[in-house]
Amino acid sequence: MNGYKSLKIVDKKEWGDNYFSLFLKDKEISEIVFPGNFFMVKIPYFESGAILPRPFSIARVFKEENVFELFFQVVGKGTEVFSKLKEGDYLEILGPLGNKFPIKTEKKIIMVAGGRGISPFLYLSEILKREKKDFLLIYGGKSEKDIKFRHYLSSYNTLFITEDGSYGEKGLVTDFLPKGAFTVFSCGPEIMMEKVYEFYKKTNSEVFVSLEERMACGTGVCYGCAKKIRRGDKIEMVRVCQEGPVFNAKEVVWDE
Ligand SMILES: Cc1cc2nc3c(=O)[nH]c(=O)nc-3n(C[C@H](O)[C@H](O)[C@H](O)COP(=O)(O)OP(=O)(O)OC[C@H]3O[C@@H](n4cnc5c(N)ncnc54)[C@H](O)[C@@H]3O)c2cc1C
Ligand code: FES
Repeated sequence: MNGYKSLKIVDKKEWGDNYFSLFLKDKEISEIVFPGNFFMVKIPYFESGAILPRPFSIARVFKEENVFELFFQVVGKGTEVFSKLKEGDYLEILGPLGNKFPIKTEKKIIMVAGGRGISPFLYLSEILKREKKDFLLIYGGKSEKDIKFRHYLSSYNTLFITEDGSYGEKGLVTDFLPKGAFTVFSCGPEIMMEKVYEFYKKTNSEVFVSLEERMACGTGVCYGCAKKIRRGDKIEMVRVCQEGPVFNAKEVVWDE
């Protein structure tokens, strides 16, 4: 990671319902990036009034083409600008940054994603399958509009859930968590990740969550992403961009 790189958008996908993917080409990034890692992405024009770069997880990697994908939902000014970019435009990006999901485990891996929190589990599913690990991906959203990558995920062990039952099983992801001792990864709304942790905390499972803190620099300088983390008896302010974004859920101070 040597400062911002200017990368060409080689493809774009509009998923509908305010979800988009941008595909960027870079050999080095495609080789080293791992699920959990994220990028800071500069907003290309300032008329939007949004100035600070925005963080996005690695979604998928197409190693043979040296292409990687960022998947995002439009929630404000920055993501709106990104959604209007076209193939051939350039993006300034920094990364990969941050830590990785710890996949060295003998236990079965359960991944729990809510909405756009599916991002890191796309490439991770591919890696886990390649490494012949036993895993289940539980992917939920409010309605079928929030469930993307259906074709891609049909190659992996995925349980789809929607709150209104319009796609897959009806309910909340937390209604479908299997009982037992697992290594659990979760990404999505904080309340969902907290409930996942609550469900497993009295079992012999370990839960890791990817925290979506607001970030300004992504490199440990501004302290904009500081979050309270439990270390033994102490509570420390930790920079999510430096020590995270993936944390053991038992360290997270949830009642903020
Ligand atoms: C490590 C990391 C990885 C991420 N990966 C992805 C990804 O793969 N795909 C994706 O769609 N999004 C991802 N996000 C969230 C993404 O960065 C924000 O949605 C984006 O910065 C919003 O920018 P904006 O200018 O569109 O919204 P803003 O105009 O800045 O904000 C719009 C609304 O969203 C809220 N908001 C903005 N940022 C966050 C945040 N980080 N956490 C909670 N609420 C927020 C604001 O409070 C406001 O209500 C990630 C965040 C982090 C920290
Ligand atoms: S975003 Fe600046 S220190 Fe983490």
